[in-house]
Formats: sequence, C-alpha cells, structure tokens
Amino acid sequence: MVSSNRSTAMSDSSPYYAIVTGASQGLGRALATELARRGHNLLLVALPGTGLPELSESLGVNHNVSVLFLETDLMSREAPGVILEYIRANAIETDILVNNVGIGHGGEIGDYSDEAIEESVFLNMRCTTLMTNIFAEELGKRERAYILNIGSFGGFMPVPYKSIYSATKSYIYNFSLAVREELRDRGTSVSVAMPGGIITNHRVRKRLNEVGPVARSFTIEPDRAAEDIIDSMFRFRKVIIPGWRMRMAYSIGCLLPFRLLLAMTGRMFRGVS
Ligand SMILES: NC(=O)c1ccc[n+]([C@@H]2O[C@H](COP(=O)([O-])OP(=O)(O)OC[C@H]3O[C@@H](n4cnc5c(N)ncnc54)[C@H](OP(=O)(O)O)[C@@H]3O)[C@@H](O)[C@H]2O)c1
Repeated sequence: MVSSNRSTAMSDSSPYYAIVTGASQGLGRALATELARRGHNLLLVALPGTGLPELSESLGVNHNVSVLFLETDLMSREAPGVILEYIRANAIETDILVNNVGIGHGGEIGDYSDEAIEESVFLNMRCTTLMTNIFAEELGKRERAYILNIGSFGGFMPVPYKSIYSATKSYIYNFSLAVREELRDRGTSVSVAMPGGIITNHRVRKRLNEVGPVARSFTIEPDRAAEDIIDSMFRFRKVIIPGWRMRMAYSIGCLLPFRLLLAMTGRMFRGVS
C-alpha cells in the first residue's frame, strides 16, 4: 500500500529534498530531524500507520521546511520504483538519499526463522542496493549530492550469533565504498555510517542489557549519533563511526588478533536475541 501527503511547504533555504528510509522512529527519525534542523526539505518513507503524518507535520512546523511522506513497505521489491515515480510525479528534486532502514536480528544459526532471514537480507541489503541503483542517476543531476548508507559497527568483522546481521552490514560497507569510487566524478559523495549501539527502541535496549555493561557503556543517544553522522556526511567522510568511544573501540579492535576478537564478540553476543 502506498499513501502520501504534503505536510508543509515553507522552506526557502534549500529547493531540494532528502529521502530518508525507515524515518518513523529510531535513528531514521533522528537523522530526518537533524536534516530538517539544518533547513533541508524531506521525503520520509516508512510503513503505513507508524505516525508519519504527525512527524511530518511537526518537523515542517518546527523547522520551517517542506516535509512529504510516503507510506510503503520497503520489504517490497517495487518500493524503490514507487518512490522514484512519486518524486517525478510531484516534481521533487532530491540531493540526499539516506538508506537507513534495517533490522538487527540475532541468534544461533539453525534457529533463525525464514522471516527473520528475509527481513535481514531484504531490508538491510536489497532495499539499500535497489535505492542506490535507482537514484544514482537522479542524484547525479545535482551539482553536489549525498548518499548516506547506514551500516553497523558489526559490519567491520564477522560477529558470531549476529552472523546474518553482521554479514549484511559488511555488504553495506563494501558496497558503499565501491559505489563512492564510481560516483566520485559525478558530484555524488557516498558515506557509510558504522554506528555501535544506539538506544533507539525497546528491542535494542533489551539487547544491550543482555550484551552486558561494557558494551552498554559504549552506547550513544540517537540525536547525538544523528548529529555526528550528518555533520560527517556533509564533510564528505567515507566511513563514519559516531561517538568517540566507538572510534576508540575501533582503534583498539584493529590492534587485537583476529581470533581473540572473534572469541570476545562471540562471548558477548551468545544468547542475545
Ligand atoms: N540501534 C542500533 O543500536 C543500531 C546500531 C548500528 C546500526 N543500526 C542501524 O540503524 C538503522 C536504524 O535502526 P534503528 O535501531 O533506528 O531501528 P528501528 O528503531 O527499528 O527503526 C527502523 C525504521 O525502519 C522502519 N521500517 C521497518 N521495517 C520497514 C518496512 N518493511 N518498510 C518500511 N519501513 C520499515 C521502521 O518503521 P516502524 O515504525 O514500522 O517500525 C522504523 O522507522 C538500521 O539500518 C540499523 O541496522 C542501528
């Protein structure tokens, strides 16, 4: 199902729109809010019935920008085409694509449901790939454009008991760096964010409680992460790790033997949902 509406159209700071997928809550909502705060018009995409009309209204009014929304299921292969059609039909020009939608299932291999696997693969990898492929040409029409893909700290290495999730985010990491090189001369900057734990919803909070106090102490609030990520995106950063604690953890991790790192993360995530 697709439904959409124009909420507010008042901006005179930027004629262009930023598309944010998975914008109804969590990091996507925080990224959308940060872009609105900086005067960007928005096209928010999420599932129907997730409060997009209200969010669009409040972002438009509070930040004096135009906010559109499109309610559609990003699990569907047709969704990216529907979004492109929508922006063409409404004569919207985009200069930022934020591929945020994603899901973080964990577990032991053999125990995953087919649905969990499909959600992980379709939302984390297929949606970002289709969106990037379909919007590359549109973004290339701007003098300067940005693609921001949301990976995860777990994408830097294999994570036992988060094997599917970490593999999908490794894909996002490598895909983003390759596309960055391809689009370099077309004026489109591609960044990939690799955040650690962000307390975005009750599932993440529960998971972080299960992982233990050390990992918990490295978490960051969604607003803080979004500010860091958007700031770095506009500075054309290739790989973005929000929060100094996670940047430090990355540097330490690079010094540890791979086998030790694997054993440590396996111990950390064993039994975590
Ligand atoms: N939270 C963390 O600790 C963390 C760490 C590293 C990376 N990340 C990444 O950050 C991104 C956002 O994570 P989050 O924690 O903010 O997740 P979240 O709170 O679950 O938000 C996900 C967003 O995607 C939307 N969504 C889910 N399924 C959808 C579908 N089929 N079609 C359209 N929209 C859909 C959700 O809408 P609903 O309102 O319908 O649920 C929501 O707006 C993900 O890519 C995740 O892997 C998160």
